[in-house]
Amino acid sequence: MSITKAVIPAAGLGTRFLPATKAVPKELLPVVDIPAIEYVVREAAAAGLSNVLLITGKTKGAILDHFDRAWDLEAVLAEKGDLDRLRAIRESAQLATIHAVRQAAPRGLGHAVLCAREHVGAEPFAVLLGDDLIDARTPVLASMISVRETMGGSVVALMRVPREQISLYGSAAADLVDDAVLPGPSPSSVFRLSNLVEKPSPEDAPSDFAIIGRYVLDPAVFDILDETPPGRGGEIQLTDALARLAEMPPELGGGLHGVLFDGRRYDTGDRLDYLKAVVRLAVDHPEIGTEFATWLAEFTGAL
Ligand code: UTP
Repeated sequence: MSITKAVIPAAGLGTRFLPATKAVPKELLPVVDIPAIEYVVREAAAAGLSNVLLITGKTKGAILDHFDRAWDLEAVLAEKGDLDRLRAIRESAQLATIHAVRQAAPRGLGHAVLCAREHVGAEPFAVLLGDDLIDARTPVLASMISVRETMGGSVVALMRVPREQISLYGSAAADLVDDAVLPGPSPSSVFRLSNLVEKPSPEDAPSDFAIIGRYVLDPAVFDILDETPPGRGGEIQLTDALARLAEMPPELGGGLHGVLFDGRRYDTGDRLDYLKAVVRLAVDHPEIGTEFATWLAEFTGAL
């Protein structure tokens, strides 16, 4: 069954970025001139996922406005003949078919994914975290979809991190799958995963493989999430449900693989990573990149 639906959880409180995120959703913080979540929707669309479900919550209404048509603004820009900006604001409303469901309370990422159940139904689907920005030059999602199509089960994206940082992520024991040749655009290493733990201490971590914010999930995950009790931090953790999927037999929708991601990735909900994303993408920006890079070199030289 081909995958067409993407679920983008964006209902978290964003406490690490307060006070900026008191009234403004962290997903709308601009990375140069585009809100962080638009990069994520573009990534989903580029992987062929044209049906996007946003999981939103209180104070997150503006996210939907961003993906809607803005007739008043369009009229003003058309009148002025400002066609580039007109194209840009129309584009965000045309990237995908956007749906939304509200998570009544931020009870954790696992609970946010469970809110997608009615929309997704019995199909495999992708989950992309709304504050997790991945460099478009490394299309990991396409590789993950290929793995699902050839091997079944569920698939996560993995990144190697220094041991002392593993407690910021979910982690898993990973065994390389021999001769895994992917039909996707970038040949990646594929691992069979077991023993998943959410935010382990460096001593208890099963490996230095961190699970990052891209998932391709079998719909069997919904029954599991429904029964998953609150875990770390009192939240319903997606990692706990993935641990169960990893142990289940394939005929029940079980099995869990990881695809190694070796590109650039930023957690835009973290202030330092957000700033790195802004600088990186500003340097690459077609209009202001050269001028910004020159200024940046002078500025860092003067530090
Ligand atoms: P985070 O771990 O970044 O949590 O969530 P957070 O609450 O958003 O941010 P902090 O830690 O308070 O700063 C990872 C992803 O899961 C979503 C978030 O929006 C983010 O995309 N999420 C998290 C939900 O949609 N609902 C939740 O209940 C929790």
